[in-house]
Amino acid sequence: MQIGCLPLKNNILLAPLAGITDLPYRLIMRRYGIDLTFTEMISANGLVRAGRNTEALLLSTAEDHPLGVQLFGDDPQVLARAAAQVEDRGELIDLNLGCPVKKVVRSGAGSALLQDPAKVAQVVAAVRRATSRPLTVKLRSGWDSSSINYLEIGRIAEAEGADALTLHPRTRSQAFSGRADWSHIKKLKNAVTVPVIGSGDIVRAEDAEAMLAETGCDGIMLGRGCYGNPWLISSILARREGRPCPAPDPLQRLEAVRCHFELFVRHFGEQKALFDMRKHLCWYSRGLPKAAAFRTLINATRSFAELQQATEDFFLAAIDSVET
Ligand SMILES: Cc1cc2nc3c(=O)[nH]c(=O)nc-3n(C[C@H](O)[C@H](O)[C@H](O)COP(=O)(O)O)c2cc1C
Repeated sequence: MQIGCLPLKNNILLAPLAGITDLPYRLIMRRYGIDLTFTEMISANGLVRAGRNTEALLLSTAEDHPLGVQLFGDDPQVLARAAAQVEDRGELIDLNLGCPVKKVVRSGAGSALLQDPAKVAQVVAAVRRATSRPLTVKLRSGWDSSSINYLEIGRIAEAEGADALTLHPRTRSQAFSGRADWSHIKKLKNAVTVPVIGSGDIVRAEDAEAMLAETGCDGIMLGRGCYGNPWLISSILARREGRPCPAPDPLQRLEAVRCHFELFVRHFGEQKALFDMRKHLCWYSRGLPKAAAFRTLINATRSFAELQQATEDFFLAAIDSVET
């Protein structure tokens, strides 16, 4: 798969996920076979004002590439300045036309832009002029069920210079409820000539194959399916190559957790790890014996050392329970 001038090793992309797809998370997912990943969404306003938080979201390393930098905002000129400012931080710029969060849409950004096709044209055109990097647009199906307009928005984005489109086929009012309507991905694929990437509800290797087959999309984007489950990526790759890919055993999970801890502490320190790793640990432990008690325990831990010890104890007990 190729996006503009950017060739990719495969067509499995990691979704931008605010609060999740930080540097350690992206590095973990790369180890299991993802090539292109995205930053969490970054405010264009924050970037041009040189906000400290936005700089933290851009944290990356040499191994963390190819990387798409995702921007959100509502002002074409501010988005253009932000894109020019960050174009050396990744290989690709992505525009967020899908975020449903109130604070974001109230500012006219994210999925609010879907309500203003003329503004979308200005935004994409301005960013296109500002950077020579490949440019992608990530959108939802529409604002609500009475204003489904992804085909119009997709065509506009393509006409103004987008090199690929990612569709999460839910409306803003659906947020994350119900099923993603993959038929929208198929219709978008048939309506534009640039590559189309499908996003939504891929949680098993079979789903990945089904989305590609049902919609004809060029690439797939993995989001929540990878929570505590980087094996989703390796299982999709294995299935394609006709290799078996058994579910991870507790030892493999523990190895991934140790690696995640190590990367997290290296880049963000123990204090932040104490709080941010909890959600990942809840996901990595899903389905193992006594996972509920483990979740309660780690939410009460007060130091990183305590969290790490509780984690080792839990996974080692799970390994023992499989062996005996
Ligand atoms: C916690 C969370 C954070 C998200 N953050 C972003 C974001 O920053 N930018 C974006 O374009 N989409 C964001 N999304 C949407 C995802 O990229 C993806 O399109 C959506 O979750 C559907 O895919 P999935 O069913 O595979 O998770 C977010 C979704 C979730 C659940």
